[in-house]
Amino acid sequence: MSPAPTTTRGAPQPEPGVIILAAGLGKRMKSEKPKVLHALAGSPMIVHILRHVISVAPRASIAVVVGHGREEVQKALSTAPELKGTDLHYIVQSEQKGTGHAAKCAMESAWGAKQVERKAQILVLPGDLPLIPRALVREMLEPMGRDTALRLLTCDLPDPTGYGRIVRRGKTGPVLKIVEERDANARERLLREVGASIYLFQAAFLRFGLDRLQNRNAQSEYYLTDIISMAAKARKKIDVLKWACPEDLRGINDRWELAQARRMLNQRLVRHWAQAGVDFQDPDSAWIDLDVQLAADVSVGAGAQLLGRTRVAKAAVIGPHVLLRNVEVDAGAEVRLGSVVEESSVGQNAKVGPYAHLRPESHVGPECKVGNFVELKKTRLGAKTSVAHLSYLGDAEVGAAVNIGCGFVTCNYDGRVISGSRKHKTIIEDEAFIGSDCQAVAPIKIGRGAFVASGSTVTEDVEADAMAIARARQVNKTGYARKLKTSGEGV
Ligand code: UD1
Ligand code: CA
Repeated sequence: MSPAPTTTRGAPQPEPGVIILAAGLGKRMKSEKPKVLHALAGSPMIVHILRHVISVAPRASIAVVVGHGREEVQKALSTAPELKGTDLHYIVQSEQKGTGHAAKCAMESAWGAKQVERKAQILVLPGDLPLIPRALVREMLEPMGRDTALRLLTCDLPDPTGYGRIVRRGKTGPVLKIVEERDANARERLLREVGASIYLFQAAFLRFGLDRLQNRNAQSEYYLTDIISMAAKARKKIDVLKWACPEDLRGINDRWELAQARRMLNQRLVRHWAQAGVDFQDPDSAWIDLDVQLAADVSVGAGAQLLGRTRVAKAAVIGPHVLLRNVEVDAGAEVRLGSVVEESSVGQNAKVGPYAHLRPESHVGPECKVGNFVELKKTRLGAKTSVAHLSYLGDAEVGAAVNIGCGFVTCNYDGRVISGSRKHKTIIEDEAFIGSDCQAVAPIKIGRGAFVASGSTVTEDVEADAMAIARARQVNKTGYARKLKTSGEGV
């Protein structure tokens, strides 16, 4: 367990409370989906924020204010693998009357009363700032003296449009208030220091301030930002944390801001992996999700998408326009141009593609070759097996050193239910050889070292070392072709 944080005076301080504001309509997104669930790098924006909170303050008590699409938000958070084991308190804000009203709903709840009672400090974060770094959360949660009412995060923006402006006494004096863009006068609009909607409050002061909020402003909303002027008027101490990097504080209010934030986060991830030894053919077109892990000397082609919990081991080559979702690629393996691999694994030094499709639960053994236009589904290939061209294998267990010729198909589905399953299994044992253009009608087993002649449709098991040939015998009629051509009847 980490030691309890201490104040500047050294007295122990309770674990913080955290309020995430996530009830807003997100009207500007023009979407059916609640704003905070729109995803970047594989995770909804609110999850980016929550994972920082959990990693910096694992024992914090977290309240999420939900409203618009609340069932959807709750479901997404309760099933997010990144948040497994995290206890979230949901506070319902049934009518969205502003950020101050959202915080008030939290502080008026039993959760809020408990925070006041245990004299916690409350970190407030909006759900729509997915680019904030973990260090920002850590700095906001640095010990704050009991005599300070709140800590406020600000930043100088080259273009402050849309943000609340920080009004100080003089140019650099103490903070007096935050004024929203729509309520600001011409002089205030010129101010470039803005508030990011991130605060640390003493619970009792937050409760006190929220009880006194009014909605006399351009949007008739209860603004959380109005608490700042209350603190200033009451001559309370306000701590200001000025953040140097404006890009970290990009709020997502519409689809264009979302697209830009995605690119920015992706750039950070690509840079991180490049610095860890990954070679990118084109850093601008490769897309990497947050939970992907790449080893040194991996190379990634232009337009590749590495998604979900994909892991790529040392010196593996991911070709251009390859999509991997939740895939394990072992060392030295190669996934070539245009292949799509999902929920599957590719063994050491195996080669897959170009244009192969590995659907879920496919496992390609070490040194296998899976060539162009091959589709695998729920199929396991043993080491050194080759399926080089134009084949479909579904629900198949294939041994080691098997050779499968061009155009092989497992007929795994015929509508029957056998042992509770509609899909039937094909078993092909080690060192079997399947000639080109064959079909195996499942359930079926082709024994070790067996040979299936080209053009066969096998419907019965083939025992080990046997040869199966299941096609019509060829008949050559001497001179018959010439006769057909001259008779005028056609073939
Ligand atoms: C807010 C701030 C602004 C700041 C900006 C930074 C206020 C009044 N304004 O403006 O000073 O510069 O963030 O990004 O606080 N929400 C609710 N319930 C509501 C309204 C909003 O839960 O009734 C949530 C939203 O889901 C969102 C967050 O609060 O996650 C911020 O709301 P938003 O409407 O995006 O505020 P901004 O206009 O961006
Ligand atoms: Ca916003």
